[in-house]
Amino acid sequence: MSHFRVGILTSGGDCPGLNAVIRAAVYSANTLGWEVIGFSDGYEGMLCPVRYRMLDTRSVSGIMASGGTILGTTNKGRFVAKKGHGEKALIPQEIMDEAIATLEGLNIGALITIGGDGSLSTAMQLADNGVKVVGVPKTIDNDLNATAMTFGFDSAVQCVAEACDRLHTTAKSHRRVMVVEVMGRYAGWIALHGGVAGGADIILLPEMPFNFEKLEKDIQQRFAEGALSVMVVVAEGAFEAGGNYVTLDSHGESKGERRLGGIGNYVAEELARRTGRETRAVVLGHLQRGGNPTTLDRILGTRFGVAAIQCIKEGHFGCMVSYQNYQTGHVPISEAVGQLKNVSPQSQMVAAAKAVGICFGD
Ligand code: F6P
Repeated sequence: MSHFRVGILTSGGDCPGLNAVIRAAVYSANTLGWEVIGFSDGYEGMLCPVRYRMLDTRSVSGIMASGGTILGTTNKGRFVAKKGHGEKALIPQEIMDEAIATLEGLNIGALITIGGDGSLSTAMQLADNGVKVVGVPKTIDNDLNATAMTFGFDSAVQCVAEACDRLHTTAKSHRRVMVVEVMGRYAGWIALHGGVAGGADIILLPEMPFNFEKLEKDIQQRFAEGALSVMVVVAEGAFEAGGNYVTLDSHGESKGERRLGGIGNYVAEELARRTGRETRAVVLGHLQRGGNPTTLDRILGTRFGVAAIQCIKEGHFGCMVSYQNYQTGHVPISEAVGQLKNVSPQSQMVAAAKAVGICFGD
């Protein structure tokens, strides 16, 4: 008897919780008597040389607590469906045809793609070409529209908070200003939540361009009032009012996309110069993407994996699993991609941060 077959892949930057999704999808598909095929290295696994393996409950048992993805992932492969910041590019037709031929050849009835904005744009184009796709939102940045939360975010926030806990003690001992640069691309979610949880004094977000005069005044006042140190959490996408993003590449471009980074050192140097205080910068980088997922991300990942299989069972395709009001559901992929979900400077979260004395330098 031939079984219904589902394909699954992880695409784009990895994040904690991917394995929880894979595991949950396999467990719940197997319960329905369906088979699951896992493609290696993201969408690339569907292209020559095709790379896949059968996944069953035994092969995914015990993977939930591990970070990364057992399937591997590719950030920018031959499926370039998104170019730069907001600019779209189409998947080349021969690549599309090859992927569809692979899916047909393997008798795959539906495909689950776990990815962020760029990977979901690819999924949308596959859907436009007749592939029965269900997307699962993934990113530590938490910047995807149409879902209140993505798994991986909580683990990244946990990493930032733990780093701040450590940095407070050394910063206090030396009476220093400590600047912690965190990820998040063009959104400030990780900085805002990680900064609040980590007891930051100053948080700098892309959504709230900062002013150095205000930061200088705030820091001097804190020390004057007896503070032993000042903790600054800065999002990699934060920038000075009237200024621009700080990028790592001299040409500002890497494979069609800017690589953000460097704002931490820039802010530290400028604050040291202005305040005369000893200042140090720490870049958390990929520590925020690695390691074991938090319990929240394991649970969210599990719920997303189950919800993806549910979508297939109910015949919902071209959609993305979402999380709203503590419930999983699904939305058209088009609602999720193309436009980032940013922190609102008027939000309750920002107001709460201000109420506990956090300065945004705006
Ligand atoms: O989107 C996730 C993310 O970790 C961003 O926060 C960061 O800017 C980027 O990916 C880093 O990408 P890479 O792993 O390619 O350096």
